[in-house]
Amino acid sequence: MAAMGDERAALRAALLYEQPRTVNRGRMEIVEAQLVGVLERGIVGAVVELGCFRGAMTAWMRAVIDAHDSRRPDKEVHTFDAFEGLPPPGPYDSGYLRTGEFTGAVGDVLVLHDRFGLARPHIHAGWLADTLPHGLPERIAFAYLDADRYDSTLTGLKACVPRLAPGAVLVLDDYADPCAVPGGEITAQPKAPGVLAACREYFGEARLPRVVSTAAAGSLGLGLHRADDVNLPRPGRAPGQPRTDREEPAR
Ligand SMILES: C[S@@+](CC[C@H](N)C(=O)[O-])C[C@H]1O[C@@H](n2cnc3c(N)ncnc32)[C@H](O)[C@@H]1O
Repeated sequence: MAAMGDERAALRAALLYEQPRTVNRGRMEIVEAQLVGVLERGIVGAVVELGCFRGAMTAWMRAVIDAHDSRRPDKEVHTFDAFEGLPPPGPYDSGYLRTGEFTGAVGDVLVLHDRFGLARPHIHAGWLADTLPHGLPERIAFAYLDADRYDSTLTGLKACVPRLAPGAVLVLDDYADPCAVPGGEITAQPKAPGVLAACREYFGEARLPRVVSTAAAGSLGLGLHRADDVNLPRPGRAPGQPRTDREEPAR
């Protein structure tokens, strides 16, 4: 991977400094590595984010796309959020993240993109259940789901997974606690247990997304689903063997 340009390094530094609650080095490395993989494999379709808050990861994904191939402005980024903060927790969620937490604004997303000279994304403001049916692109190459709640995640999976192009990747934030993986079972990220519960409901136990982490991600385990994995048994994993990929940090 090419060395990081000054503009992207400046964006990363600003996001780490200004939005540390929702982005960290680990998250950014994992998203970058997976998104670059999709771009290198030439997977068709849009890049989408469900739950953008103030647009930190939306901007990072745009910057990663531009750095990989500036001739691909056609690789559109669609980002979704109610901009009213988190909805109330349901039975599968914890109370750790409060109702209304992470209230951002469309203007935050636009200002961030303008500040770093990034093309503005398509912003779909409203609850996912209302915006996804008409706003979601027909074909998705890369999806980042970061909506924290069970209902929101399940709504997102039902909308996005059928639209993933062959070879597309879907990354779930706050999916698992990687510290618990050595025992073999995937354990929920305590702050947002509804994310794993929604994946169990949607994918079933046998096809659960894998856990991805990096040293920089700390106790954070993201979920990784590859579109062409859906109907295939996972090769080379003995029963009880943990489903964890440790990615090399992106450079
Ligand atoms: C943790 S924040 C996202 C952080 C963001 N990905 C970033 O990079 O900074 C979770 C977001 O999900 C949004 N959200 C959760 N459930 C939603 C739903 N059902 N419809 C729309 N937005 C939702 C919240 O408004 C909140 O902004």
